[in-house]
Amino acid sequence: MNYTLKVAEVRHETVDTVTLCFKQPGLKKIKYLAGQYLTLIFRINGRRFIRPYSFSSCPGVDSFLEITVKRVENGLISNHINDIVQVGDSIEVMPPMGDFIFEEKYNFTDVYFWGVGSGITPLLSIIKYILAEKNGINVFLNYGNRNHESTIFRDQIDQLKAKYANRFLVRHFHTKLTVEEEKPHLIQGRIDQKKALEILGNHTSQDHVGHYICGPVGLKESVKNAIQSKFGNVENVFSEDFELIKDPKDFENIHTQNVTLNFQGNSHMLEVVKGKSILEAALNADIEIPYSCQTGNCSTCKGALLKGEVKMIGLTKQRDDLSAGEYLLCCTHPLTENVHIEI
Ligand SMILES: Cc1cc2nc3c(=O)[nH]c(=O)nc-3n(C[C@H](O)[C@H](O)[C@H](O)COP(=O)(O)OP(=O)(O)OC[C@H]3O[C@@H](n4cnc5c(N)ncnc54)[C@H](O)[C@@H]3O)c2cc1C
Ligand code: FES
Repeated sequence: MNYTLKVAEVRHETVDTVTLCFKQPGLKKIKYLAGQYLTLIFRINGRRFIRPYSFSSCPGVDSFLEITVKRVENGLISNHINDIVQVGDSIEVMPPMGDFIFEEKYNFTDVYFWGVGSGITPLLSIIKYILAEKNGINVFLNYGNRNHESTIFRDQIDQLKAKYANRFLVRHFHTKLTVEEEKPHLIQGRIDQKKALEILGNHTSQDHVGHYICGPVGLKESVKNAIQSKFGNVENVFSEDFELIKDPKDFENIHTQNVTLNFQGNSHMLEVVKGKSILEAALNADIEIPYSCQTGNCSTCKGALLKGEVKMIGLTKQRDDLSAGEYLLCCTHPLTENVHIEI
């Protein structure tokens, strides 16, 4: 069941990023876990657009439900939110989803957070949770941005640093920076493998140490390579992707094909252009099939293959929960001519 939330406050974090603060619904409160995301549904000029945004708020710490949105160049909804949405607007949302959450079962003593740009949103949510609820855990935030001005949540992070000085260490990495010697936790350049290795310097083992990563592919690779080279494994590493990453090599056997899609008792013939998923083809044809993350994470777009052959491309997490013949249409591409899908 979807909810309709009212925007109670719009906070400008940087020149290109806003936080929308929603009031909890009067009757049935929305329950969520730190690090999960909220999916917003917009209708613009008669067309439906659905986009997931991680909570930047933390349950039990923040009274509003908050999401933080950075403009994407030519992006439809991120710019709509930055330019048009205002206090008092009502927005339809899906129930919270996502498995990028604090993993209680590992008994972590130290948790490292690695983020770049808007990737900070789910990290901040989990950091607030650990600092407020898990007294024995040390938190290390490694956060990359262009400069001080483009750093989202810089004031909130400073306040947390002051409040939890003995167990919250922050290193800022700025690509546009003249280094000042009196600020040892301000580092010039990107978070690369070498710098990640230096940060991991004190640890001799990965036992009870967790890592949470959210940012571009390069960040994830650098951090994982550093952990692998130092400890010989990449255990206890969790990551969230805001975009589906597609390797052009995976499309070598894929051609533009017509696909038959059965949805709500109707049969639609879709042209699925090479490189586009079956979900993208359906949305382009104005067929309002369900979806949310578009990164192969949530299962909202799950369909059943009735005929033909297809292939999922770009999945970063193992999906053992899919039965034979079930596919996530946001990352599914036809391999043969006669594909029939039902959702
Ligand atoms: C689980 C999850 C959580 C997310 N949380 C956040 C969040 O907290 N804050 C936030 O700002 N965004 C977040 N996103 C990204 C967000 O959902 C949208 O994808 C993003 O706002 C772009 O939407 P758009 O409509 O503006 O762009 P579109 O109109 O959909 O796309 C325009 C162009 O931008 C490219 N593009 C799409 N997404 C991105 C991206 N993230 N970065 C760079 N280029 C992109 C597309 O390939 C396309 O070429 C999250 C995504 C996921 C899957
Ligand atoms: S939309 Fe989430 S798995 Fe496809």
